[in-house]
Amino acid sequence: LVLVVDFGAQYAQLIARRVREASVYSEIVPHSMPVEEMLARDPKAIILSGGPASVYTPDAPRLDPSLVDGTVPVFGICYGFMAMAAALGGDVARTGQREYGRTGVEVVEPGTLLDGLPGSLVSWMSHGDEVVGAPEGFTVNARSPRATVAAFEDVERRLAGVQWHPEVMHSEHGQDVLERFLVDIAGCRRTWTSVNIVEEQVERIREQVGDARVISALSGGVDSAVSTALVQRAVGDRLTAVFVDHGLLREGEAEQVERDYVEATGVDLKVVDAVDQFLGHLAGVTDPETKRKIIGREFIRVFEAAEREVLATPGPPVKFLVQGTLYPDVVESGGGEGAANIKSHHNVGGLPEDLEFSLVEPLRTLFKDEVREVGRQLAIPEAIVGRHPFPGPGLAIRIIGEVTPERLAILRRADAIVREETTRAGLDTEIWQFPVVLLADVHSVGVQGDGRTYGHPIVLRPVSSEDAMTADWSRLPYDVLERISTRITNEVEEVNRVVLDITSKPPGTIEWE
Ligand code: XMP
Repeated sequence: LVLVVDFGAQYAQLIARRVREASVYSEIVPHSMPVEEMLARDPKAIILSGGPASVYTPDAPRLDPSLVDGTVPVFGICYGFMAMAAALGGDVARTGQREYGRTGVEVVEPGTLLDGLPGSLVSWMSHGDEVVGAPEGFTVNARSPRATVAAFEDVERRLAGVQWHPEVMHSEHGQDVLERFLVDIAGCRRTWTSVNIVEEQVERIREQVGDARVISALSGGVDSAVSTALVQRAVGDRLTAVFVDHGLLREGEAEQVERDYVEATGVDLKVVDAVDQFLGHLAGVTDPETKRKIIGREFIRVFEAAEREVLATPGPPVKFLVQGTLYPDVVESGGGEGAANIKSHHNVGGLPEDLEFSLVEPLRTLFKDEVREVGRQLAIPEAIVGRHPFPGPGLAIRIIGEVTPERLAILRRADAIVREETTRAGLDTEIWQFPVVLLADVHSVGVQGDGRTYGHPIVLRPVSSEDAMTADWSRLPYDVLERISTRITNEVEEVNRVVLDITSKPPGTIEWE
């Protein structure tokens, strides 16, 4: 275990991810956690994150000097680097000059930290203060235009740090620097692999669930698919997965869950065909929020009914519900161990008021990319594991206007073309999400073959993002856009125009409704 001490950095999660990419398990803890508490968790190393403050700001988060007394290997990044320097008696100067963005770092003495790396590195910086003198016993490894000391190490005491942000993508050899510390200086072993994650989680789930039965809702998305498969691996047919087909998924997705996923995982799946029920209730509805409410309400109704059926079948008591909560959700809601106990009516409703389910949350410690790796390890089809985020209300909020079976069919075909072409162009990882939107109530005049057409526009909305809170429109290659446009207008008869949404978020949102 490596602890990443969060000094209020937007980068703490990224650091934790990078550590795990080195196959070393990491968790984030707040800087306010007492040192004894950190040490009680027996970390093999500690990383001090960056933070917005200057070490001279009166209310700057303090670094307890006992953390860097050599008991545990420590690596400081940016603010953590300066805090470490100050705590160990080095010189930190208030320069008032900020060094921000791409910066050249010059290696002075590679030592262990920068061993084997090029003599100069492009690195991402963001700091005001500057370390001008390394603490006693430290070797200075690098400098930059505005940082006399940009990296230092004391291999004997297993302490090191850098002024720049090795965790961000723009820092050259950033991952190498982190690994030099983790492996060569701190002596961490690389044991955090998807094979081990699966084994460990399966063990935990068995312990938690005992002899009881478990219910899970499959949505078609990555998180529910992987959490369900993990629980299946642990308890076998004491798990029933419920998939509500609301008819609002994209082409082939329901089949992928009903057929390919079941084949790969062997899960006991209960498919509820509720297409007519959902479309019936959506008929005549155009307001986005009303669509969402109807879909949410109907989902609960259908899921409750399925749940009652499972409860009515003979077998051990049903005590658990699977939930695909991820580590970032846990960190953002204040962290903490232990599964929350929820009353059934808060979540899926419909059950006797006094019946309580406990949650099984096997992804609570994982980042999204790890969830995908675990999914691959569990042989879940790539079409599901690699899926982009997709809204619960599905295509209903990508048809601007009333949702009808005909309109769903048009949108499904256009969307399938878009997915084929972006996959073929190798753009799936670069694009965060690619909503395809049908302006169902808009017609425009066109000409095709010999005649005038009066069809609908399709909007392409490819975006790049880190977390969906903000987003930018993706600059897709023109030839890819051209192929998409040509194919949609040729192959989807009702569409005679393809337009590109070039709005960032804010002011736009990712979805159109
Ligand atoms: P917006 O459109 O608000 O979307 O920029 C941000 C992210 O949330 C997804 N989204 C939803 N997900 N139910 C969901 O489960 C919804 O009603 C919903 N609306 C938007 C959207 O796809 C994007 O990833």
